[in-house]
Amino acid sequence: MMTGIVRVETPTYIILTYGCQMNERDSEIIAGLLEESGYHEASSLEEADLVVLNTCGVRHTAENKVFGKLGQIKVIKSKNPRMKVALGGCMAQLPEVRGRLRKLGVDLIFGTHNIHELPSLLEKSGTKGTLVGVWDKPGEVVENLPDRRAPGVSSFVNIMYGCNNYCSYCIVPYVRGNERSRASEDILAEIRRLVEEGVREVTLLGQNVNSYGRGLAEEIDFADLLTMVNRIDGLYRIRFMTSHPRDITPKLINAVGSLERVCEHVHAPVQAGSNKILQLMNRGYSAEQYIELTEAMRAGIPGVAITSDFIVGFPGEEEEDFAQTMEVVKKVEFDAAFTFIYSQRTGTKAFTMENQLSRTVKTERLIRLNEVQYKLALEKNRRLESKVVEVLVEGPSKTNPAKMTGRTRCNRLVMFEAPSSEVGKLIHVHIDEAKTFNLLGSVPEGNNLQ
Ligand code: SAH
Ligand code: SF4
Ligand code: F3S
Repeated sequence: MMTGIVRVETPTYIILTYGCQMNERDSEIIAGLLEESGYHEASSLEEADLVVLNTCGVRHTAENKVFGKLGQIKVIKSKNPRMKVALGGCMAQLPEVRGRLRKLGVDLIFGTHNIHELPSLLEKSGTKGTLVGVWDKPGEVVENLPDRRAPGVSSFVNIMYGCNNYCSYCIVPYVRGNERSRASEDILAEIRRLVEEGVREVTLLGQNVNSYGRGLAEEIDFADLLTMVNRIDGLYRIRFMTSHPRDITPKLINAVGSLERVCEHVHAPVQAGSNKILQLMNRGYSAEQYIELTEAMRAGIPGVAITSDFIVGFPGEEEEDFAQTMEVVKKVEFDAAFTFIYSQRTGTKAFTMENQLSRTVKTERLIRLNEVQYKLALEKNRRLESKVVEVLVEGPSKTNPAKMTGRTRCNRLVMFEAPSSEVGKLIHVHIDEAKTFNLLGSVPEGNNLQ
């Protein structure tokens, strides 16, 4: 018999995030917008009324992951007629991808420039076919959107959007639009708010943070912004990424070296070591200039960790060019690096370049590069064995929840045992053993730094 009690069900959502920190940050805004519209988070795909895929299209492999997932979701959706699928992020900005998505049961495609429109687009979607709500170009920077940040002591803060560099292999300028900086007062207000909520470390995000300020009414550059953020009380650490080598100025090196809250880590992707390839990539520096830059950073920022991205197998890369990349790797001794196989992206300048290399050659070079880079990274990590380092305790490790994790100022991941009361604190950790991608440590008695 009916009891007369009406159960009001709020719709549920799940967000699957692919790609870089930009997307991670955007997913926090998507979650905020959805919660403000009355959704709450589902614990699994099967239970979700709404699945949002926040996608990346930087390489084919990234795209393939999303298409694979969409196939799986289509099966779940066939058993759950209430389910809606929305796809946003960088793949949504690519017209040729949108064509394929229509066939895969996607109800809504929304772009990177109009995330704020998601709630209204969702209302309109789901009646017939795929609704496409994508802006081709960015509008004004939209401030004060709701968000639901990943809980923790460390947060991402966008300082700029888009990219003007047009590296010849890269789709980011096409999918993220032209470079736009946020006003410094908005950035500072956001960081102050985060600190009040318990955040102790921020990573300032942009495709090219060191061109921050261009086009703003205020007279400001990235070094000035770092100086302002450095004054925020209660904030322990400031990180930033990514830095384009061409735009790292002596002023910036000086700021990173002298501002006490700014961590000694610069992610400055070199991409390749051959001047011929660097030119074809439109990177705007030579291998020699890059090496000089790293020397200037090491001199101006004591203990700096320099990390990089590499692309192997760019069109026209000959064995000799690749050997030059290996030379740079050995000479600079990067603390860590992300290494990628060149992926031919529609719409980019390199797409039509001659001498595209075979998968076999590209894979073989990647293996060789990784072998050398990983060995060097391990050697560098070993230099920290038996040393005591400052770590900001972030929380239990995802891979081993019995241990805590945190990072050194130079961005090395450390695993150690500590009570959960230490989360959010700066502590001293003794490094017992170095691995290629992390450090194992232990906490000596009474080593709280605050
Ligand atoms: N703005 C940042 C990040 C861009 S994307 C920067 O310039 O460093 C992150 C990395 O992906 C790039 O540094 C590059 O190494 C890699 N990448 C970009 N396009 C690629 C492509 N078509 N194939 C392979 N790797 C690519
Ligand atoms: Fe892509 Fe180059 Fe811009 Fe980085 S700087 S996002 S690699 S175009
Ligand atoms: Fe991917 Fe877009 Fe980031 S293409 S790397 S998610 S800016």
